[in-house]
Amino acid sequence: MPHLLAPSLLAADFTDLKGAVSLVDQGPAPWLHLDVMDGVFVPNISFGPAIIKAIRPLTKKVFDTHLMIVDPDRYIDAFKDAGAEVLTVHLEACTHLHRTVQAIKAAGMKAGVSLNPHTSVSLLEDILPELDLVLVMSVNPGFGGQKFIGRTYAKLDQLRDLRERTGSKTLIEVDGGVGPDNFRKLVEHGADVLVAGNSVFGAPDPLQAMAVLSGN
Ligand code: DX5
Ligand code: ZN
Repeated sequence: MPHLLAPSLLAADFTDLKGAVSLVDQGPAPWLHLDVMDGVFVPNISFGPAIIKAIRPLTKKVFDTHLMIVDPDRYIDAFKDAGAEVLTVHLEACTHLHRTVQAIKAAGMKAGVSLNPHTSVSLLEDILPELDLVLVMSVNPGFGGQKFIGRTYAKLDQLRDLRERTGSKTLIEVDGGVGPDNFRKLVEHGADVLVAGNSVFGAPDPLQAMAVLSGN
């Protein structure tokens, strides 16, 4: 399967969200990555369901929603209502992860689980067959524009093995510090979806950057 690109709106100009979404809408990336931060799970606050709902009519791209929030169960319906299609929670933020995953699916969304850089892939063994997506953080969550953590490649290798061993059909997504210099290697190590914030919106020509990162 060719990999999918998910530009992250976090790196866009927030005074022109309409322009940023339109840019992605015209480009080759099938997904739009939406980073929701609560200032508790991560040391930053971004945006929530109201903003997602406001931009929903601007594009048909898949809304890939990355929740960096504590107690995400409280907001599953709100994100469904806002138009999220993929809803990813952090393993580190969920006491009853299995229940949370089932609730996301019952609400009619694809369920993802994200791992912080320090969290072992092996912790997914019992939940992997239930998941539509695993998001491997390749920086510590909270901010765009950080340096990619090289250990990510080994985690991707482990995750691909675990996916095969458990018969899981999950997609593998990588998020943080992804750009023109490392995206091919990430795909070689099993990444199905690449999140790219600054390497798209910070590029002189974002449309061209999206084409490059899509492998075109
Ligand atoms: C970080 C977010 C990322 C961020 C990536 O906490 O989860 O999605 O937007 O930004 P870049 O691609 O600039 O590292
Ligand atoms: Zn993200």
